Amino acid sequence: MVTNVSQTAAVESSAAQGRERWGSRLAFVLAAAGSAVGLGNIWKFPYITGEYGGGAFVVTYLACIALIGVPILMAEVMIGRRGGNGPVGSLMRLAITERRSPLWAIAGWSGMLGSFIILSFYSVIAGWAVSYVVAAASGSFAGADADAIGAVFSGLLASPGTLIGWHTLFMAMTVAVVARGVRAGLERAVTVLMPALFVLLLVLVGYAMTTDEFSHGVTFLFAADFSQLSTEAVLAALGHAFFTLSLGMGIMIAYGSHLRRDTSIAGTAVTIAVMDTVVALLAGLAIFPVVFANGLTPGAGPGLIFQTLPLAFGNMPGGLVFGTLFFVLLTVAAWTSTISLLEPTVEWLEEQHGIRRFTAAIGAGTAIWALGLVSALSFNLWSEISLFGKGLFDLLDFLTANIMLPLTGLLVALFAGWGLSRRASADELGDGTLHAAWHFVIRFVTPAAVLIVFVYNLL
Ligand code: PFF
Repeated sequence: MVTNVSQTAAVESSAAQGRERWGSRLAFVLAAAGSAVGLGNIWKFPYITGEYGGGAFVVTYLACIALIGVPILMAEVMIGRRGGNGPVGSLMRLAITERRSPLWAIAGWSGMLGSFIILSFYSVIAGWAVSYVVAAASGSFAGADADAIGAVFSGLLASPGTLIGWHTLFMAMTVAVVARGVRAGLERAVTVLMPALFVLLLVLVGYAMTTDEFSHGVTFLFAADFSQLSTEAVLAALGHAFFTLSLGMGIMIAYGSHLRRDTSIAGTAVTIAVMDTVVALLAGLAIFPVVFANGLTPGAGPGLIFQTLPLAFGNMPGGLVFGTLFFVLLTVAAWTSTISLLEPTVEWLEEQHGIRRFTAAIGAGTAIWALGLVSALSFNLWSEISLFGKGLFDLLDFLTANIMLPLTGLLVALFAGWGLSRRASADELGDGTLHAAWHFVIRFVTPAAVLIVFVYNLL
């Protein structure tokens, strides 16, 4: 017991040294929820729900969030708080203090690399959202037919200069926040942006309620017909649960490392997951009624947001204002995610190389921006180039979402369950039934589930 306490104190004091802390529990929750809530919720969740047939998919997804998402989220925050560093540094330190192989740091490296690559293409897509704010506000969609709107979208993708311009702007917005640090940058941004996001979303749901098809949208989202549910849909639900909670990228490790000792990890993890899910469902409620009211079909793939929705807004009363607000919402959601994607690399540069945050943010941002050019060009000048049968953008997306993210998630779960001593995790979570349940899930259930999805997706 004596060693127990003194070891904990040692971990504690060295981890705490000079580390910036979130100002409050709420600040951490908003930052983590800001990372989680992004294009995944507003762009991807509605369209995959459309593709996989609605309610039954939603229920499966909710189960994945609760049974696999939340336990891994807790594991990442715990590793971060106990490791007191970014993903690479935290895993290295904990492997040492727990007398485990230093090879566990691979999980930190792959997480950081994953966030680096994801940010490069995420910023390009986020740039589309900003460009749509301008297009919607200037009335480009007003009264337009499907062909005209299709032409706006393909025109955007065909122009390297335009894509790169918006991508550059988005990376600059991201660097501007991260360069200021945890309190003055991240925390300040999310405390303004997240409430704004919720207000915008509620306004848009209110607007959807004024259409004749609101109840149709509700039934579509919540009426569960399990006979419709395919194996593929179950796997997509699990994969999406991972992506939407920003797991397997070291982000929640980085964010958790700035968390105070007295904040409950389980409580905050549940709050974050609930906020993320509520936003995804509200986005569905804002989108589907508008789509149905215009006689359009929801399962329109990724084009749902960038083609179907502008068509719908372009042809309804108030569409100019609400269509513009929708793309502002998408931009805000993406922004609070991109700042989290830059954070792991910046913390690594600061901690392992002693580079000042300001310089680190600009350096990492520039490198990621350069990699983003590959994605931007893959929609036009380089559209012919393919590797392993995929275009460059799709390849980066596949490599991260289907390979790096689940593998890192698996390693994190294994480390938290088997690498970290039971005493250490109990010290973080509080010893009791909750810890026992979490420990069982993270040791057996989560790794098995992640492995199944991983193998299936590869085949
Ligand atoms: N969770 C974000 C979304 O749903 O859009 C995307 C994301 C952010 C994924 C950060 C991964 C990540 F590390």
